[in-house]
Amino acid sequence: MDSLNLKNRTVVITGCAGGLGLAFAEALASVDCNIAALDIVTEPPTALCQLRSAHGVKVEYYKCDISSRSQVSEVIERVVADFISINLVINAAGIVQDEPFLWTSDHNIEKTFAVNFTGSFLVSQACAKQMVKQYQGVHGEKRAERTEAAIIFIASIATHIASSAQRISCYTASKAAVRGLVAPLAAELAPYGIRVNSLSPGYTMTAMMQSLQKEQPDLVGQFEKETMFGRIGLPDELTGATLWMCSDRLSGWYTGQDMLVDGGASSWKHPAAL
Ligand SMILES: NC(=O)c1ccc[n+]([C@@H]2O[C@H](COP(=O)([O-])OP(=O)(O)OC[C@H]3O[C@@H](n4cnc5c(N)ncnc54)[C@H](O)[C@@H]3O)[C@@H](O)[C@H]2O)c1
Repeated sequence: MDSLNLKNRTVVITGCAGGLGLAFAEALASVDCNIAALDIVTEPPTALCQLRSAHGVKVEYYKCDISSRSQVSEVIERVVADFISINLVINAAGIVQDEPFLWTSDHNIEKTFAVNFTGSFLVSQACAKQMVKQYQGVHGEKRAERTEAAIIFIASIATHIASSAQRISCYTASKAAVRGLVAPLAAELAPYGIRVNSLSPGYTMTAMMQSLQKEQPDLVGQFEKETMFGRIGLPDELTGATLWMCSDRLSGWYTGQDMLVDGGASSWKHPAAL
């Protein structure tokens, strides 16, 4: 049963070569969504390609540096040519570098904002243009009363609560900038039936977490103490919220919001702090 009403929709997912992006692709393919997967890596992971045969959906991989406007424009044009329409966007690509504020380099500021903020902006803008075109092709200038498309940004627990275990002011500010897009875009795009929200994951075991852990071997142990369940999250534990946000049947009245999914980490004075 297509209870989510996502069958045959096309979702553009950035950062799809691993971590949360790949988990979102798997979850959406399992409800019969077609996947346009963007990432900067040259070869897509096998797990992504296998979604075709596992679920009988269309999956195409596009190598793209999302911080480049020309690459994003060219790739989204190819996505439209391949899939005809775009219904959903999930901006999961992101980077982080742990650097004390006092010594944060220009390179970190430029690169982190280029990928996390500008990249999410450019992909969403290119996809939203297509969504508006699709809307107007069916409804003309009539203002939407119902939702037909959705954009999801990935922010972070870091924008809700600072962790003493990390020095990531630059990353946090870039994610706050991403969250800053949600309300104004939700307002600007509502007339075209497009909802805009962000998901703020808590500490989750992915390649990003593993590379932070390499620099700081105690980091995961610290984060484990900070959640109410004594462990950090798994990518799968973010997919329910994402599917819900994508489904106009389930969350059609939800727009302009940030949803924090963090195993309770930001809701208590955790034992690690006592
Ligand atoms: N893992 C966590 O604990 C956590 C917590 C909060 C927020 N987040 C956010 O969730 C999102 C996914 O994180 P993750 O943990 O899966 O990270 P990850 O490092 O496992 O995956 C990120 C993906 O983004 C891709 N990418 C990087 N730069 C790119 C670029 N310029 N163009 C296109 N793709 C690019 C990478 O190749 C990678 O596949 C990120 O935005 C991250 O900031 C993660």
